[in-house]
Amino acid sequence: MKTITTMSDTLELPHLAPALQAANNDAYLFDAANWQVLDANPAACKHLQYSLAALQAMTLLQLAPQWPDGPVPLGDGIGAHAIVQAQLQRRDSGVHAVRLRLTRAAHQGRALILAQGEEPRTPQASAAVTEGRLEQRELRQSRARLAELTAQIDKVRQQERTRLARELHDDLGGNLTAIKMALAMLARRLPAGDAALQDQAAYVDDLVDRSIDAVHRISLDLRPSMLELGLVAALDWQAKQFVRQAGIECVFSSNRKEIDLNPDQATGLFRIAQEALTNIARHAHASKVAVRLDQQRQHVRLCISDNGVGMRPLDRAKPQSFGIRSMSERASALGGALQLANAPAGGTLLTIKIRLSTPREAIIAAAASAGTQHGPRQPDVSKP
Ligand SMILES: Nc1ncnc2c1ncn2[C@@H]1O[C@H](COP(=O)(O)OP(=O)(O)OP(=O)(O)O)[C@@H](O)[C@H]1O
Ligand SMILES: [Mg+2]
Repeated sequence: MKTITTMSDTLELPHLAPALQAANNDAYLFDAANWQVLDANPAACKHLQYSLAALQAMTLLQLAPQWPDGPVPLGDGIGAHAIVQAQLQRRDSGVHAVRLRLTRAAHQGRALILAQGEEPRTPQASAAVTEGRLEQRELRQSRARLAELTAQIDKVRQQERTRLARELHDDLGGNLTAIKMALAMLARRLPAGDAALQDQAAYVDDLVDRSIDAVHRISLDLRPSMLELGLVAALDWQAKQFVRQAGIECVFSSNRKEIDLNPDQATGLFRIAQEALTNIARHAHASKVAVRLDQQRQHVRLCISDNGVGMRPLDRAKPQSFGIRSMSERASALGGALQLANAPAGGTLLTIKIRLSTPREAIIAAAASAGTQHGPRQPDVSKP
């Protein structure tokens, strides 16, 4: 067997470095001009079942008849490299599959290509990778569970508010109306000359009127009907409310008059907008706010920007702050993502993009939420 150990003169072939000779995985040295094997390490000889001399009489094409016809994806310069998946033919006609890292090299003016099989992973390395993957999968799963839980809590809370609103309105409101009617009947029977009693009756009647108003207002608060007009109308209304309550200019715009969202999507986006506006009123010191809702081909995008002081990276991770976390969880429950960035005019730009449901998904979502009214709560822009 011809063993090439030196490169001392030009007649001798270049050979693999000692570390590559000792490697557990294949290593080959090819002539870049014709892909002739110039050297191969013992591992390569063992895997292919050829002697070194036999390999040196072969070219890559003979070793790998399945080699792709196209050019090897290797750059021109020395050091250029690429990874290829090779199916090398063993002497017994079996296949030795190996991922080869090809690197351009040169020796004494001769262009070479070094091919190194990727080191097999040690059991520990494989275990570490597997563990890392498992952790990532667990993290993804628990995020998804958290998002589902948030959506579920939202739904239950909404159902509870709707029930309360209905009871307040129908039960208490109904009783108050009955009291008003009974009071009117009693007042008619009061002695005409008793001014003090008449005044007392008028006072109680006024009290009942105010209570009926309060019940009406509270039940509307619990179940505002704005979302029933659609998200575009609800956000428009919300922006106007914000101007009144926070005294900050707020413009709403949309490229559609209506956007066909399922109730969960509409409620989720509305809540996100409410929290974003609450944050602006509380933290931004802004004088202008823009809320924009756009329907794109398959997506809906909500952008809320302000020209205030802007957020610092650490603000997002405040331990006692839940607004941004809950916006993020809502966004992922809707299959979207929340992005916070610096607005071009200074201040903060919040963007959320969600995919529109397909008609089939829309039918399933509508069926799932049948009987559940989805309504937004009022923004708490008055929080200190
Ligand atoms: N539009 C904004 N402009 C400037 N800073 C903001 C803006 N929105 C949020 N922040 C900063 O980010 C922090 C986190 O906001 P987040 O909504 O999570 O919590 P919070 O508003 O402090 O409390 P809460 O849990 O009641 O929402 C805020 O405390 C504030 O410092
Ligand atoms: Mg907040």
